[in-house]
Amino acid sequence: MSAAADLVEVLRAAGEITRLRLLALLADGEQSVKDLTEILGQSQPRVSRHLKLLADAGLIHRNAEGAWAYYGLAAGGAGGDLARWLIGRLSVDDPEHQRDLERLKAVRDAQVGQAAAYFAKVAESWDLLRSLHVSEDAVEAAILAAVGTRKVDLLVDLGTGTGRMLELLAGHYKRAIGIDTSREMIAIARAKLASAAIGHAQVRLGDIADLDLSAGRADLIIIHQVLHYFDDPGRMLSMARRALKPGGEMLIVDFAPHGLEFLRTHHAHRRLGLADTQMAGWARAADLSVADLKSFPPDSSIAEGLTVCLWRLVDARKDQTQ
Ligand SMILES: C[S@@+](CC[C@H](N)C(=O)[O-])C[C@H]1O[C@@H](n2cnc3c(N)ncnc32)[C@H](O)[C@@H]1O
Repeated sequence: MSAAADLVEVLRAAGEITRLRLLALLADGEQSVKDLTEILGQSQPRVSRHLKLLADAGLIHRNAEGAWAYYGLAAGGAGGDLARWLIGRLSVDDPEHQRDLERLKAVRDAQVGQAAAYFAKVAESWDLLRSLHVSEDAVEAAILAAVGTRKVDLLVDLGTGTGRMLELLAGHYKRAIGIDTSREMIAIARAKLASAAIGHAQVRLGDIADLDLSAGRADLIIIHQVLHYFDDPGRMLSMARRALKPGGEMLIVDFAPHGLEFLRTHHAHRRLGLADTQMAGWARAADLSVADLKSFPPDSSIAEGLTVCLWRLVDARKDQTQ
């Protein structure tokens, strides 16, 4: 229960057209101020002021990340509840809302295009580039340990890139599918699997946001160094979760929070690492729970080292017979 004065503050914050538009946009996942400014077509100071009012009233949360800040709907409380109630009552036919959603899609498509151009350019040198970020040996040993002696029916590797995870785990699945949006990456992965005589894995062009489930749902999904390319990793995790069998597991490998802004400007990263608390919240929202977390600090020989994390997520649904 909240005091009347607090509730009035929440209502005042929500009761303005631009702020309502912002809430409706954030219903689609976390967004950066930069993108929200572009979508609304208003000045950045103006958008930031609206966002601050919404955050102060508890309707949204703010997450500062290097030079950028991300906003999302508050998880709960009077503010979070009111935000969801309002969004649920906003007509999908509202012309301004429609325009905002079209601009949001255009902004997202442009980002996907930039990332795709980057991966097309680096595809051939990716195996070298990935090992420059961090020493992979310890991480790969931990991935193998997390899978243990299991041999799963179907492994799905989302954002497979050059197919390294399919190669590493080849002895632990009966069938595997690697999915990636980059034709260039897929071509290299296909050649790599052929030269390693790994015939029980296939690679396909596909998008995590729009997965084709016709090959069945996976016992194990791996998402290795992919989520930081999205503004809203939680949304992508929920999309990926649809491809998981009841009782299945996900292994997520990504960077811990860092301050290396050049990875954003030069290497298509969107998020400067993922925090444990964020991962726990995203997992919860996707009906998963964090069963284990391992961290790998940077190799001391790498000047600007990054910590890599391995999260093991398990199905949190009580009834796993769905
Ligand atoms: C950093 S690479 C990681 C590749 C591989 N998992 C590894 O660790 O070597 C990220 C990969 O994600 C792919 N990717 C980006 N967005 C994607 C999406 N929406 N759906 C599927 N793959 C995507 C990129 O094309 C790229 O190959």
